[in-house]
Amino acid sequence: MQIQLDSQPHASVQADALVACVFDDDNRFEGALGEINKGMGDRLAKLVQSGEISGKALELVLIHFPEGLAAQRLLLIGAGKREKFKAADLRKLAGTALRYLKSRGAKKLAFLAPEGERGTAGAQAAVEGLLWADYESDKYRTEKKPARLIDSVALVGFDASLGEALTKAVEDGRVIGESANFARDLINEPSNRLTPKMLAARAEAMAKDVGLGVEVLDERKIAELKMGALIGVAQGSNEPPRVIVLRYKPENPKPNAPVLGLVGKAVTFDTGGISIKPATNMEKMKYDMGGGATMLGVMRALAFLKPDSPVICVIPATENMPGGRAQKPGDVQVAMSGKTIEIINTDAEGRLILADAVFYARKLGVTHLIDAATLTGAIDVALGNVNVGAFGTPREYLDKFLESAKAAGEKMWPMPLDEEYQAMIKSDIADIRNTGSGKGGGASTAAWFIKEFVDDTPWVHLDIASTTWIDEGRPWLAKGPSGVAIRSIIDFARKFS
Ligand code: BES
Ligand code: ZN
Ligand code: ZN
Repeated sequence: MQIQLDSQPHASVQADALVACVFDDDNRFEGALGEINKGMGDRLAKLVQSGEISGKALELVLIHFPEGLAAQRLLLIGAGKREKFKAADLRKLAGTALRYLKSRGAKKLAFLAPEGERGTAGAQAAVEGLLWADYESDKYRTEKKPARLIDSVALVGFDASLGEALTKAVEDGRVIGESANFARDLINEPSNRLTPKMLAARAEAMAKDVGLGVEVLDERKIAELKMGALIGVAQGSNEPPRVIVLRYKPENPKPNAPVLGLVGKAVTFDTGGISIKPATNMEKMKYDMGGGATMLGVMRALAFLKPDSPVICVIPATENMPGGRAQKPGDVQVAMSGKTIEIINTDAEGRLILADAVFYARKLGVTHLIDAATLTGAIDVALGNVNVGAFGTPREYLDKFLESAKAAGEKMWPMPLDEEYQAMIKSDIADIRNTGSGKGGGASTAAWFIKEFVDDTPWVHLDIASTTWIDEGRPWLAKGPSGVAIRSIIDFARKFS
């Protein structure tokens, strides 16, 4: 799909459909929409009077052969109240319009910037929304659905006087959208087609492609480093684990610059191990590598966006299988840090592999950490598929991250890390246990487990278990991998210094 800025007046843009936003207020016919209305002999105003157009968010009204426009169709999309409207809202609007028109066979679209959102933030958001919405996977279908593809989208009405900054915004949006779709492709892969080794190979290929440093630790190196928590999870599987390390270095690094560490859980399949999961929905556990894929998407984007500070990404990759050599409840493992862990439930494996990964990242010299993991079912109970659960210490570091989430238009909710949750992972025979004693607080005890290895390093932990995969499509998004958290982490990394 091509996306390009087009400085022609909206009336002369040739397209299968021109998309225009309609606000839910009385001045909706100011500017471009007013001109369109005039060209159509006040027809739009009449549709407002008759109640067919209200401007309510995401309302869609399609008009064929609109007079005064070179486009074949005019798609009006509701933008809601103007006072509440933000550039970020253009993501959903552009995405919803794309999916609606794609399903009707349109190939060549034009998207008209709404009044008041004609700048760089709006352009970037629109491009991101288009790429997110265009994503669909039918890789493993031998009979492809009749190809309904969008060939091109022209961005019309953006403020051309912004010059290069506007072009750059469109390019940034493309890099971010394509990187998210790279991650979504990985998350869609079934586990027999994406083992830890294969994930490492895909990461290596991507890194070489975009110019990132890359190193893959194999099972021997992992043993040498004494990553006992990761090895404990991996030993139940015939597939060996990998630790993927990616590095981004700025061209002119500042001396003593802080180093951002990104860690992502990549369990390529989570059966639960000996504490085996029920069969229902187990197939979904192919997406238990979503945190790792998220970080790979972020790193891919950063290679193009070139932030000021260095970034090191560590992805522990393994299967979690029951097998003759699998670890068992009651076993004690020694993590790379030297801490001893009593395994209570082998299905709480994510925190185990993250324990060694965050510790290793600190060894590599990161000064700040963000991890993303499909970690707990408990976060689904707390927040559903609406918000990502965001934990972190110190509070100012978490707050900074939440600002990035807001800027990126992603919903994240701060979750508690009181010491009482730490007390719940005390073990009777080892330093800590891998599940909380007592009932409840499962997302917080899991986070505390990771914190035991993070220590005082500023750290954000994102529990994306309930938001990485959506079971039902949305008007702006296909069902399946959502690409959640990628934009927020990119925004944070770009501002980080
Ligand atoms: N991968 C799961 C968490 C998960 C659940 C992700 C649902 C996506 C959807 C994780 O490894 C797990 O099994 N967690 C257990 C922990 C429990 C045994 C303490 C859980 O949340 O049930
Ligand atoms: Zn599990
Ligand atoms: Zn898991």
